[in-house]
Amino acid sequence: MDGPSGSGKSSTARGVADRLGLRYLDTGAQFRAMTVWMLRHGVDVHDVEAVAAHAAEPRIVSGTDPLEPTITLDGEDVAEEIRSADTTAAVSPVATVPAVRARLLELQRATIAAALAEGGIVVEGRDIGSVVWPDAEVKLYLTADPGARAARRAAENGSTSVRSTEEDLLRRDAIDSGRTTAPLVVPDGATHLDTTPWTLEEVVDRVVAIVESTR
Ligand code: C5P
Repeated sequence: MDGPSGSGKSSTARGVADRLGLRYLDTGAQFRAMTVWMLRHGVDVHDVEAVAAHAAEPRIVSGTDPLEPTITLDGEDVAEEIRSADTTAAVSPVATVPAVRARLLELQRATIAAALAEGGIVVEGRDIGSVVWPDAEVKLYLTADPGARAARRAAENGSTSVRSTEEDLLRRDAIDSGRTTAPLVVPDGATHLDTTPWTLEEVVDRVVAIVESTR
């Protein structure tokens, strides 16, 4: 499941995984944990070579229970810190660095392979259907109007400014879509869902129906 921030990916992916008894992986959380490490160690996130030189160091572990996904960095729970404004502002530059993507790709593929042996997994991100697992049984690309996405994100973050949230989202979208390695694209063969008019429950129902129709 791919798409820009605020498209409803995380809530949908977790809801679908829970309904279908599958595991769940939030790859954005892994890029965010990598970013927390860089910020903590004083690495300039705009210095591609510096970020690349450290990309192998952080130990990032994702728990794949859709009801209680976890993320640790060097053994520490960083679930809150990965959502901080500083992390959010720095994550897209870090995610453009090929060495970062290669490192996380390895982790992501190992997690997916292990979960497939046990029934399956819903994975969300920006490059899942295009790069991480092009042979996925079901590929979805979720989007929504920028205004709707910003309103959802602002509500989640308890922020009052939908406009500044929308500016942040569009800035991040531009970096994610414009990068050379694994940009945000609609993957070949993906079903494109515009979630703007739907409630979360309606989106989950639709996605579950799509998954069931392929089985
Ligand atoms: O999904 P989330 O907003 O938490 O992702 C944070 C950032 O991580 C994205 O803006 C993007 O820069 C990066 N990302 C990525 N590839 C993924 C998942 C996230 O580049 N598969």
